[in-house]
Amino acid sequence: MKRVQDFNVVGYNWLNKDNYIITLSSDSDIENIDPGNFAEIKVPNSPDVFLRRPISVLDVDHNENTIKFYIKAIGKGTRQLGNLDVDSKVSIVYPLGNSFSILHRKKVLIVGGGSGIAPFIMLASKLKDEHTEVTFLIGARSKGDVFLIDEFGKFGKVLVTTEDGSLGEKGLVTQHSIFAGNMDFDHIYTCGPDPMMKAVAQIAHEKNILCEASLENMMACGIGACLCCVTPTIRGNECVCTEGPVFNSKDLKW
Ligand SMILES: Cc1cc2nc3c(=O)[nH]c(=O)nc-3n(C[C@H](O)[C@H](O)[C@H](O)COP(=O)(O)OP(=O)(O)OC[C@H]3O[C@@H](n4cnc5c(N)ncnc54)[C@H](O)[C@@H]3O)c2cc1C
Ligand code: FES
Repeated sequence: MKRVQDFNVVGYNWLNKDNYIITLSSDSDIENIDPGNFAEIKVPNSPDVFLRRPISVLDVDHNENTIKFYIKAIGKGTRQLGNLDVDSKVSIVYPLGNSFSILHRKKVLIVGGGSGIAPFIMLASKLKDEHTEVTFLIGARSKGDVFLIDEFGKFGKVLVTTEDGSLGEKGLVTQHSIFAGNMDFDHIYTCGPDPMMKAVAQIAHEKNILCEASLENMMACGIGACLCCVTPTIRGNECVCTEGPVFNSKDLKW
């Protein structure tokens, strides 16, 4: 059930100067969260960042009552969230949006880029429980922009592409050699920049593989009231915050 809950900052794990994991804890129990769900986080001590910021849930620990978010600092809100004192209070509205489908598949491919890697730790953990074989393909500009590889490695094989060739294969994710031959994946999940997801979806369609894409449209309310996050689909315009963020890519008219 959706709720507004106050958390306290436990600490940060800085991955480089712009990317961090923030851990928050609560005195109350944490709601059930499914892979792909996101939270709207209020940025404290920042009156000019008026709207909450939508961030995917990276991980949750129901024994410790902690929740983690992986955040790429790109503007005022995400920078301010990375600059709070330990024990600062942070209000979040969660769990929001739908979640990835868990369809008891044999073999799946997860393709992530940028902050789009965030929902995939929880997804991979769920898939592991289902004994699904997971391959991750992570795309980045350069070696220094590739994060959480060790975490992903706990759940499956990890492939990387970098645009400058400093790690993994050189090029864009969709140029990875895995796409060259026959692919025996039953399902592809993707999250990241729109052009990357569109290209991944195109390949999935050509190879007749079900593809789910998690969109990161700009959002304001996060609950279907302001209509600022709509995306065109075969059913008409739909709010990404309530009908998504996860869509069957065949339903998207992007
Ligand atoms: C469902 C969902 C899940 C998300 N999950 C994560 C996550 O796990 N980790 C993470 O780091 N980010 C995530 N994002 C993106 C994150 O919400 C934005 O980066 C954040 O709102 C930017 O706020 P800001 O105040 O720092 O930047 P602003 O000052 O508001 O904007 C800075 C610049 O970034 C652009 N921008 C703002 N929001 C977005 C966006 N959604 N997509 C592309 N460009 C944007 C603005 O146009 C501007 O150019 C997610 C977004 C959505 C919709
Ligand atoms: S963010 Fe307001 S309707 Fe989706």
